[in-house]
Amino acid sequence: MSTSLCEGVSWVGAVDWTIRDFHGYETERGSSYNAYLIEDKQPTLIDVVKAPFTDLLLSNISALIRLDSVRWVVCNHAEPDHASALPDVMAALPNAALVCTEKCRRTLDAYYDMGNWNLHIIKPGDTLNIGARTLAFIQTPMAHWPESMFTYSPQDKVLFSMDAFGQHYAASERFDDETDLCQMLQEAKTYYANILLPYGEPVVRAMTSALKCDIDMIAPSHGLIWRSHIHKLLEAYKAWAAGIVNPRALIVYDSMWGSTARMAQAVYEGVVDGGAQAQLHHVRQSGLTRIAAEALDAASIAVGSPTLNGGPMPMAAAALTYLQGLKPPCKAALAFGSYGWMKGGAEAAQAMFESLNWHVVREPIRAQYRPSEQILTECREAGRILAEKAIEASTN
Ligand code: FEO
Repeated sequence: MSTSLCEGVSWVGAVDWTIRDFHGYETERGSSYNAYLIEDKQPTLIDVVKAPFTDLLLSNISALIRLDSVRWVVCNHAEPDHASALPDVMAALPNAALVCTEKCRRTLDAYYDMGNWNLHIIKPGDTLNIGARTLAFIQTPMAHWPESMFTYSPQDKVLFSMDAFGQHYAASERFDDETDLCQMLQEAKTYYANILLPYGEPVVRAMTSALKCDIDMIAPSHGLIWRSHIHKLLEAYKAWAAGIVNPRALIVYDSMWGSTARMAQAVYEGVVDGGAQAQLHHVRQSGLTRIAAEALDAASIAVGSPTLNGGPMPMAAAALTYLQGLKPPCKAALAFGSYGWMKGGAEAAQAMFESLNWHVVREPIRAQYRPSEQILTECREAGRILAEKAIEASTN
């Protein structure tokens, strides 16, 4: 099954309705691996798919043209969700050469037996004439991997943007104006927060390069194609990359016997009382993917964990490690948690905040076994400070 983007350009990828765990990213709406076929004098395939979907890709191509007529296969990104079909695809396209940078070739070579693939190595600034079209290649290192690049077809005004602007979003529709835009933007935000957030500057540079092009469509490697709401998408990306936040505090916690949960509830009440928005997430119920998405544009964050074996509880530790790697821009932060005879839960959160240079609003709030009314009052007061900081940050 294929879908036409414009005359001579078709989506020929695969929708993955069943995936729910994408190397730990909880893909509750599935995903897609997008590949695009340009039917020109020298037919060109832009990207391939994840290996289990190879037959579907080849069947989508052969429904449009003969496989032996494909001249070029462009590899924008070597990560296996987009490149692991290459060994079988290159074998099935006997007259095709793989178009990639030297950096990409080295990554592919590390993953796959490239055997006797025909290669056409491109350098920054190179173009490729395929007939009526001349494709341009825009290097976008670290958005998402060092070898990442965009391909642009000026004659079609289509930007093939690889991971950037993607969403893990399975759908029968292919375009932004055929689906629920709020859901699509939410998935784009979740994708940005979980995949691209640590690479904010490269993403901005990639976007700046892309914006120099005259674009009618942005065709990413995951999810749906942007054609009617490109402006909204780019505005959202600019805001995320600039670290613009909402007047909201995110409270993330785990709890063993309810004490840290009571503290979390008191922090939440303080935030609401302080006039900011608040979200309360039990880390074992909400999951890390959702928490990362909410952390992206929350101005304040509180993390609570009881002490277990001298440290935080396992999923609280996972949340701290995950956020530390994603490096959301500076937040007002609070650590809290209960303990019995050893400390370590709240202290781990405090250490993570300090490593990210977040602004801690006070020393960690700790409660031995269960929080007293005095401790709960301190939690509410800290929540009010988080609210004040959140409102202040969102108006700067
Ligand atoms: Fe969708 Fe970085 O791969």
